[in-house]
Amino acid sequence: MIRAMNTLERAEAAERAQMEELDRLVIMKSVIYVSGESDPRVPMQRPPSEGKTFLMGHDPRLPRMPEKPTLFDFFRLRFGPANHLLQSARLAQKNGLSEKLVLACLLHDIGNIGFIRGDHGYWAAQLVEPYVDPEVMFAIRYHQALRFYPDESVGYAYPESYIKLFGPDYRPEPYIERAYKTARDHKWYMSARQLTVNDLYAFDPNVKVELDEFTDIVGRHFRQPEEGLGWDDSPSAHMWRTINWPTRYL
Ligand SMILES: [Fe+2]
Ligand SMILES: [Fe+2]
Repeated sequence: MIRAMNTLERAEAAERAQMEELDRLVIMKSVIYVSGESDPRVPMQRPPSEGKTFLMGHDPRLPRMPEKPTLFDFFRLRFGPANHLLQSARLAQKNGLSEKLVLACLLHDIGNIGFIRGDHGYWAAQLVEPYVDPEVMFAIRYHQALRFYPDESVGYAYPESYIKLFGPDYRPEPYIERAYKTARDHKWYMSARQLTVNDLYAFDPNVKVELDEFTDIVGRHFRQPEEGLGWDDSPSAHMWRTINWPTRYL
């Protein structure tokens, strides 16, 4: 008689199956993951591929995403810890900002917690642009530049932490300076500025905020595509797919 597997045996079997799957696959890293650590002009070492196939979808080392992933699925299964974003969104709420700007605060750093650090405000803005009000996109995009420039009218000073992080002599590049000026003259300047105000103070390791607190706001202001993020053919769908399947060969 065949005995049903207990929990431990099931876990072990699943792990074995995963190891076998990994054995059959060649998983390559994109240039960008190693650029800086290695010279991109030097051809990358190819792992032995005899009898194997190159990964063209889900990476078995990662938690599997649902077939139609939502924004929160990305938060839970692909983004790094989002405490800072959650705290920032809650602070914005406490300060009486509009729901749209609370959403902007919730999403403003998904570039660096989920994708790429450099120019993170631009990447995050592009990721969400098809799904949010243009003002939300604008605030996220321009927080990249505005955070380097004080605005006494709202009590925003150049962040102390930046002096430590980048040294006292760091000056933003000309393109950041230009973006700052563009934002300054824009009707949504204050929206982007409010994001920086609610961003800076949102680092408290003792405050725990749950994603579910923002279910309603996201429901009202983030146009979740029916097909799932990444499968909806929007201008940024490929970026969501890459976050979902970061090691796909082509
Ligand atoms: Fe940021
Ligand atoms: Fe931030």
